[in-house]
Amino acid sequence: MNMLHISENSMVALQEVKNDLSGKFYWKFSSPNLERSTFHLLNINGKLLRPTLVFVGAESVGLNSMKFVNLAIAIEYLHISSLIHDDIIDKDDMRRGIETVHKKYGIENAILAGDALIARAVSLSSVYGEYVVKRIAEAAFLMCDGESMDFCTQRKKVDMTLKNYMDVAEKKTASLISTSISIAAVSEKMGDNVIGGLSKAGEKLGIAFQVRDDVVNSIGSFELGKRPGKDDKKFNRPNIVSVFEYQGESRKDAIERSIQLMAQQVTGAIQELSAFEKINYIKKILEAYFSEEDLRKYL
Ligand code: IPE
Ligand code: IPE
Ligand code: MG
Ligand code: MG
Repeated sequence: MNMLHISENSMVALQEVKNDLSGKFYWKFSSPNLERSTFHLLNINGKLLRPTLVFVGAESVGLNSMKFVNLAIAIEYLHISSLIHDDIIDKDDMRRGIETVHKKYGIENAILAGDALIARAVSLSSVYGEYVVKRIAEAAFLMCDGESMDFCTQRKKVDMTLKNYMDVAEKKTASLISTSISIAAVSEKMGDNVIGGLSKAGEKLGIAFQVRDDVVNSIGSFELGKRPGKDDKKFNRPNIVSVFEYQGESRKDAIERSIQLMAQQVTGAIQELSAFEKINYIKKILEAYFSEEDLRKYL
């Protein structure tokens, strides 16, 4: 998957994030089991989309990314905690190309590793002030709410409609992505129009991101380090391709509609940011990452 083509300064900040994630946790573990479980995914970098968006958001309003390295790490900790818990809920056995935490170390350690990461995320973000902690806590709550709606859909307690899908994606994924891109502005107490613009753009990007992830999962590729076929329609997971298939679309048409939905969300996000001085920089980054052609190559 393409990395976002960010500025050199943000690349340096991102490198700091990478170095710190696998190296420092700052708190000493007494339990080797908890330490191993916590570092299991920390040792393997994902795409680092959320830390990258922290820096893109900072730069887009003229702030220096380097100031937000620890905040970006905090958000990545929260994200990884959500992956660990999500894999328990989804009963998945592969993540980032390796065994999921609960598969390797058991559910007890996986729950605790996720909780330890949340605790560390709160501690790290508290340095940036109460508004930052509040915003991150709100995102964490929305993720819980969205994940609950997601597994209710999997257990067939809720119908897999497009409306339900959008609601789930907005909460489980877009909430943290929106928080990531706007958090530097929140930290600097910038105006409501700036924070609001970034947040709304982030919500649309979050949906676009979940749709993209679903399409790749659905096409069945090891690209994401997950097991191909894990989102097949038979599992009733709220995957966008399945949503359109439930509406009677052929698989090929369902994938094409999904790609169009992604593109529509990205266009909406760019519109939200159109008044920003750095819009051309942001536009270039987003259009490369959410390339429709790249996705169609899988078909
Ligand atoms: C996976 O997120 C979970 C979703 C919200 C779709 P990422 O695809 O960003 O996971 P990593 O961090 O790159 O592994
Ligand atoms: C993950 O959603 C969202 C969160 C972790 C909050 P999914 O279950 O759709 O994502 P993958 O496919 O497991 O990464
Ligand atoms: Mg999952
Ligand atoms: Mg899930």
